[in-house]
Amino acid sequence: MKTRDERRISSPQIVSVADVRRLAQRRLPRVAFDYVDGGAEGEITLRENLRAFKEVTFRPRNAVAPGSPDLRTRVLGSDLSMPLLLAPCGFSRLIHPEGEVAAARAAGQAGVGFVLSTSSAYRLEDVATASSGPRWYQLYLVGGREAAEAALERAQRAGFSVLAITVDTATFGMRERDVRNGAAALVGGNLLAKIPYLPRLLARPHWLAGMIFHERRLVLPNVIVPRKGAMPLAEAPAALAQSVVTWNDLHWLRKAWPGPLVVKGILTGDDARRAVDEGAAGIIVSNHGGRQLDGVAATLRALPEVVAAVRGQAEVLMDGGVRRGSDIAKAICLGARAVLIGRAYMYGLGAAGEAGVARVLAMLRADLERTVTLLGCASVRELDGSYVDIPAKWAVPRR
Ligand code: FNR
Repeated sequence: MKTRDERRISSPQIVSVADVRRLAQRRLPRVAFDYVDGGAEGEITLRENLRAFKEVTFRPRNAVAPGSPDLRTRVLGSDLSMPLLLAPCGFSRLIHPEGEVAAARAAGQAGVGFVLSTSSAYRLEDVATASSGPRWYQLYLVGGREAAEAALERAQRAGFSVLAITVDTATFGMRERDVRNGAAALVGGNLLAKIPYLPRLLARPHWLAGMIFHERRLVLPNVIVPRKGAMPLAEAPAALAQSVVTWNDLHWLRKAWPGPLVVKGILTGDDARRAVDEGAAGIIVSNHGGRQLDGVAATLRALPEVVAAVRGQAEVLMDGGVRRGSDIAKAICLGARAVLIGRAYMYGLGAAGEAGVARVLAMLRADLERTVTLLGCASVRELDGSYVDIPAKWAVPRR
């Protein structure tokens, strides 16, 4: 028997991530939907991330019979069934009571990677138990080095194989929708401050019941501050600004983490080279999905410059704006080893929990298979720059 969530998400009306997004919008109170959907300030970069994919066009090889394409990819020692990982998304329990556990379970079942955010509402050990696939850990330095070292030790013991350190968050981006929706008041401790925002929550009783019945305190159980305990979620933005990651931290991190280190949030060739020189095995070209510095270029646009600068000395991944399998194919043609998705799976989580994430992953897989076949390739490994046209101004000057 299918669950209600499974029935809802398997409707024939749901055929694309855009449909899943609409479903999530109907199910979630505005504060929760906008937390996922929104970006920083004027949301220029958020829109650019999506638009950049439209500027790249395909050059297929027709009249070949490539057969069913092989999508398998190896990324920093992790074997993936397709070139995709779920990006770290903080506190996804606000979107669904099972949050990170549900998403990690769906990722494992689909054979794709799962990157757990430092700002998870679930203990990293519980997420590890739920996930049967490759898992990476994303680090913010909130709580300081001691708290980070304790989390890294736990993550290693729990089988997280790669560490991603996010470097684009020197302070919290200004997410205007969150301010208007009273997000800070709703996660803070002042009951009176919450009152103006409660009617909208009451209008989504199903979501509210899920939050209340799965009672968990609004704390970060993977940020254990010495002598204080788990950091309250409401303190995280201020703590983030106090513990900015710099290149000096990379040396210490290489000692604290024996596995591969990935730097997430790189947008220029110079920063990419610096990351490689500091020992990064991987680079994630990312602008945090347009949630940090508004006005930076789309990540797809930044990708060729980073790939050229790295000269094969690190694996390059990208995220930002991936909503279709054809987007994944374009990123790979431009030199990415794999992509990460943030909102695409978070919409699935909001629409129907684990079943929603599984549906999004199935859609992206079918999309990518079809795209690779229509391009005339037997494997994603065949994709390269000869299968796309990019705008002339994107060309990377040779140095
Ligand atoms: C994020 N992102 C993020 N990144 C990170 O390094 N640590 C984090 O805790 C979070 N939290 C987070 C929450 C939510 C709700 C979203 C949507 C995103 C950024 C994320 O990892 C990724 O870079 C973007 O989501 C990619 O863009 P798309 O796929 O959402 O367009």
